Amino acid sequence: LKSLEMEKKIDGLLMEPSRNFRVGDIIGTGNEMREIFKTIGTVSQSRTTVLIQGESGTGKELIAKVIHNNTSPDEPFIAVNCSAIVDTLLESELFGHEKGSFTGAVARKLGKFELARFGTVFLDEISEMSVNLQAKLLRVLQEMEFERVGGKDTVKVHARIMAATNKDLRGMVKEGKFRDDLYYRLNIVAINLPPLRSRRQDIAPLIDYLLSKINLDLHKKIVGVSGEVMEKFMNYVWPGNIRELENLLVRACVVAKGQVLGVNDFPDLGKDSAILPVKDDTADIFTPEEPGKFLTLDQVEERYIRKIIKETDKNKGEICETLGISRPTFERKLDKYGISFEQE
Ligand SMILES: Nc1ncnc2c1ncn2[C@@H]1O[C@H](COP(=O)(O)OP(=O)(O)OP(=O)(O)O)[C@@H](O)[C@H]1O
Ligand SMILES: [Mg+2]
Repeated sequence: LKSLEMEKKIDGLLMEPSRNFRVGDIIGTGNEMREIFKTIGTVSQSRTTVLIQGESGTGKELIAKVIHNNTSPDEPFIAVNCSAIVDTLLESELFGHEKGSFTGAVARKLGKFELARFGTVFLDEISEMSVNLQAKLLRVLQEMEFERVGGKDTVKVHARIMAATNKDLRGMVKEGKFRDDLYYRLNIVAINLPPLRSRRQDIAPLIDYLLSKINLDLHKKIVGVSGEVMEKFMNYVWPGNIRELENLLVRACVVAKGQVLGVNDFPDLGKDSAILPVKDDTADIFTPEEPGKFLTLDQVEERYIRKIIKETDKNKGEICETLGISRPTFERKLDKYGISFEQE
């Protein structure tokens, strides 16, 4: 079954054909995702810079495309991977160059900031940008203008800039690896995408959504996954997050015989990941920092409150009811642990 044709088909599917990216394409429940939907709504009214942070496969590019389509659907969305090419090339990719500005520059070339017109330049893996280019990007963000490599004319930037990273940029700033002034310029609005393992309630709706997409593409009628698969999914760490879920489902659907995907349709699931430590601080509220130690009651309480806020879409009143405490007590605990949980 693993013919070249099939590999091609799978690759093609995973490459995302030119679908439209709308808010409806973002599956997410729970307070954290609700906040993110709110932010998407707000930034879609303006052209502010947005910094999207999250682990690999959490949907950073999807969110950027949705915001772009909300704001300027008829303009280009241009993604630039800042880690993929060497510094000098990246500079001419972004800013363009004049004819003869370096060996091989046989003609004037427009950069992405110009090509994007009134659309979006999406700077992916921004953490990998060299300090030299960081300085040049900062100027673009401050003055909204630049010069092409080897050129004297000043070019105006109309494009909106979004950036994404799966690194801890703030940490990199502290370590002096990323310019703090650029960080603050990019971080005007931040969207922090939670890893899939900390929003397990989204696994089932994601499966439904992804299966209907895959059914369309593959002309299949897969209705869901077996209980056994679901249980495995719910306990899995998902280091590759939603992309990993999507890839697993596509591969399973290609080979599946029945309408329900069973464990045998997922030969790769959890092969090496079951041993991965759970990094998320709320995933298991009883796991101590060091093995063999125990947590204090306060630590457990704090983690439990964070978990319930993060993983449900309950409002304050409902959470108090679930926890069996009064509203003032709840507020006091939020205060004590420095948990911010704002609702209108
Ligand atoms: N909330 C979501 N609902 C539905 N599909 C999603 C969601 N988040 C991500 N996806 C899908 O998962 C896949 C990976 O998303 P995307 O490429 O945006 O992730 P990423 O954060 O940019 O990953 P990487 O860091 O590896 O580049 C895409 O096919 C995307 O459509
Ligand atoms: Mg990406």
